[in-house]
Amino acid sequence: MSGHGTPIPMTARKGGALRGTALIPGDKSVSHRSLILGALSIGETKISGLLEGQDVLDTARAMSAFGATVTNHGGGSWSVNGVGVGGFAEPEDVIDCGNAGTGVRLIMGAMATCPISATFTGDASLRSRPMGRITDPLQGFGAKSYGRSNGHLPLTMVGAKDAMGITYTSPHPSAQIKSAVLLAGLNALGETTLIESSKTRDHSERMLRGFGATIETVETADGFATTLQGRPELIAQDIAVPRDPSSAAFPVCAALIVEGSEIVVPNIGLNPTRNGLFTTLIEMGADITFENEREEGGEPVADLRVRASVLNGVEVPPERAPTMIDEYPILSAVASFAKGKTVMRGVKELRVKECDRIDAMARGLEAMGVTIEEGEDFMIVHGQEGVVRGGGTAKTHLDHRIAMSFLCMGLATVKPVSVDDGGAIATSFPIFEDLMHGLNANIERKNT
Ligand code: S3P
Repeated sequence: MSGHGTPIPMTARKGGALRGTALIPGDKSVSHRSLILGALSIGETKISGLLEGQDVLDTARAMSAFGATVTNHGGGSWSVNGVGVGGFAEPEDVIDCGNAGTGVRLIMGAMATCPISATFTGDASLRSRPMGRITDPLQGFGAKSYGRSNGHLPLTMVGAKDAMGITYTSPHPSAQIKSAVLLAGLNALGETTLIESSKTRDHSERMLRGFGATIETVETADGFATTLQGRPELIAQDIAVPRDPSSAAFPVCAALIVEGSEIVVPNIGLNPTRNGLFTTLIEMGADITFENEREEGGEPVADLRVRASVLNGVEVPPERAPTMIDEYPILSAVASFAKGKTVMRGVKELRVKECDRIDAMARGLEAMGVTIEEGEDFMIVHGQEGVVRGGGTAKTHLDHRIAMSFLCMGLATVKPVSVDDGGAIATSFPIFEDLMHGLNANIERKNT
């Protein structure tokens, strides 16, 4: 859905310790891919634990518009009757992907080698995000796109007929670019190879293999090269979506900074291309234990037990950035409570997320009394050894993770922390407020 309604100002304030069990919703990345791969398969894909956030609901609607039959059976249980590789029908209307960069970019990839056209739009945040990084490689397949200046949405894509596979070296560490190219490669003749210098999240590769595609990644002198054989027949699957580590990050970090807290966060996906935040927090001294480590649906998962901890600042290795790219906002909030500096380098991708996340966190943290240094691709947070003033209002710029980061921070600051608009939280974590209340957090829908 484009745009949000009336802004929802919210405030978090210090209360008692956080206690209890946090049942996190399904992983956003896996949820988008389940719907899209289900739509490109033959037969009925059954999905349990789908994230029912607005981003994913917009992808579900888009898959119906391209001809798949998408059914909500209630309680996170969905099914998709697919149209097969190359079987997308031309949508009758504009595809509105709302706030979802992953949704629009993967769907553009999936349709780019089908002989149809589609017009895409989204909310103010999505309409300001770069799309050239997706349309450039898709042109290599013969797809054409007509967007606003700088390739911004709204954008019409005309899919290629009889596309041939391509080899593309990605200029950015981005799973969205990789996935768009691989999804386009499905309906191209021959091989499609995507080369990336650092390994980004690999859900597309794992899931494509699970649906029956032939795909492999090898490490070469140029980086990680993933090659897909074109024109496979994808066969419907049963998918149990793991719980989202990027959403788990919020209650986990809140429990670390709120004195006396102890929470359990069951069944969290710990794919090594996603778990950099937990590694970093443990290096900072966080008391996080992984219980019942196991594998579910091809993804490693564990139950997390988290206790309030005294944290030290660290230097996050830049090469870890792709494994925790969505977690820098909450890490920078938590780093404010640590002893010493936390240095985050190699993070310029943060500038093109739902908003410029370096700028949004820096301005918001300054409003809470925290000293920040920032540059094009780095941010340094000067930790305040457990005592952070708070008492400001952070601007969230339609960005769910900025909103949740400041609300978690406000549970431990001296004065309350407000955000101007928490409306975007529903895009990825619609039960955030209820879940946090269940842990005893004091978060309200109002300004101080
Ligand atoms: C995602 C990839 C990442 C991440 C986003 C989800 C995905 O974006 O920030 O939230 O599911 O592929 P980039 O590919 O732009 O790094």
